[in-house]
Amino acid sequence: MDKIGNIDIKELANEFGTPLYAYDKFKIIDNYNKIFEAFRKYFTKFRIHYSIKSNSNLHILKLFRELGSGVDCSSPFELLLALKAGFECPDIIYTGNYESIEDLRLACNYNVKINLDDTTSYKRLKQVCTPKFVSFRVNPGIGKGGFEGITTGGADAKFGVPYELLQQAYLTALKDGVGSFGIHIMTGSNILEPMYFAEVAMKLFQIVGKIFLELKIQPEYIDIGGGFGIPYADDEKELDIELTAKLLSEVYFEQCEKYHLGTPELKLEPGRYLIGNAGYLITKVNGVKNGYKKFVGIDAGMNVLLRPALYGAHHKVLVYGKTELTNLVQICGQICENSDVLWKNVPFPAVSEGDICIITDVGAYGFAMASNYNGRPLPAEVLVDNGKVKLIRKRQTFEDYCRLMEND
Ligand SMILES: Cc1ncc(COP(=O)(O)O)c(C=O)c1O
Repeated sequence: MDKIGNIDIKELANEFGTPLYAYDKFKIIDNYNKIFEAFRKYFTKFRIHYSIKSNSNLHILKLFRELGSGVDCSSPFELLLALKAGFECPDIIYTGNYESIEDLRLACNYNVKINLDDTTSYKRLKQVCTPKFVSFRVNPGIGKGGFEGITTGGADAKFGVPYELLQQAYLTALKDGVGSFGIHIMTGSNILEPMYFAEVAMKLFQIVGKIFLELKIQPEYIDIGGGFGIPYADDEKELDIELTAKLLSEVYFEQCEKYHLGTPELKLEPGRYLIGNAGYLITKVNGVKNGYKKFVGIDAGMNVLLRPALYGAHHKVLVYGKTELTNLVQICGQICENSDVLWKNVPFPAVSEGDICIITDVGAYGFAMASNYNGRPLPAEVLVDNGKVKLIRKRQTFEDYCRLMEND
């Protein structure tokens, strides 16, 4: 692989240094259009809320705003960033986890709709405002993700209200005078099977259908979260997003009618699907070690891309100008942790110091999880638009790194 968005990768490395995150604007737009068109075909009332946590660069947020997307935030900074990017309060939803009183106060102050993580969150919310609208995130007791670390429903998941408590939760809100409602579910991330989303929706209706019918609640929206997957490995198939929308719509309309739920808006909170495959991490080989095994040490370790070390996630690593696979190597970063390995026993071209490697599909949960561990600076980010490059985040300097520690 030699080019991103019609720009030579070596030129990017020379001009901006490595490690460098590069995003292909065309792919982001294409991803958004794909999911938007797929759902538009089957739903008239729906909204995409880009999940900021997947990639919170301000320029990326502005691009999603221009495309017509809303956003989903999970923290006060994400909410403030959304406002800074020009999103209006109705475009923003807030789905947190163990929300503090301060978190809830900020969301309330901006009149942002909140998907509450628990009944105790509702109690905290009442300490900062008189809620007019309430939506709970339900844990349906089952979940599925690409792997355990990204499974967000089920008995072991820390998210959402256990479904057995949901009726009481909405009843309490009704008795408190709350007049409008929503419901949220998200059971896992990086799902590649279209049927899964319809199955989760069915599970949701089985839980809330009777509750809403009994309480005479017609929800303003039904939010099925994110979770739309992308293939990371060669043997994985792309998610058929149109089939996903079609299967979901069949369940959605049938069940809304069955339980007299009216015509609630469908909300989606995709992150990975919108930005994952548009991101590349450009990195340089620092050293090749013939130890007990062969190690290729690059300048992007777990400090720059945490997913492999955090939960064994897989990303392809390509070499600029070289395709012939000659060795079995371990690709690792510079961090003083033996878990700082991107890929083990992988067939790889013969590389030497200074070679440029490209790690693919890092647009989501890439920079967003980067840290200063081992005193390494946060990398730069560029947005590439068919032959034009824009620096959208400068590389962190030593002065930036020290600034918050200086107090005299
Ligand atoms: C509440 C919520 N919404 C949306 C997302 C985005 O998920 P994905 O990137 O799988 O689309 C997440 C991810 O963890 C989430 O927790």
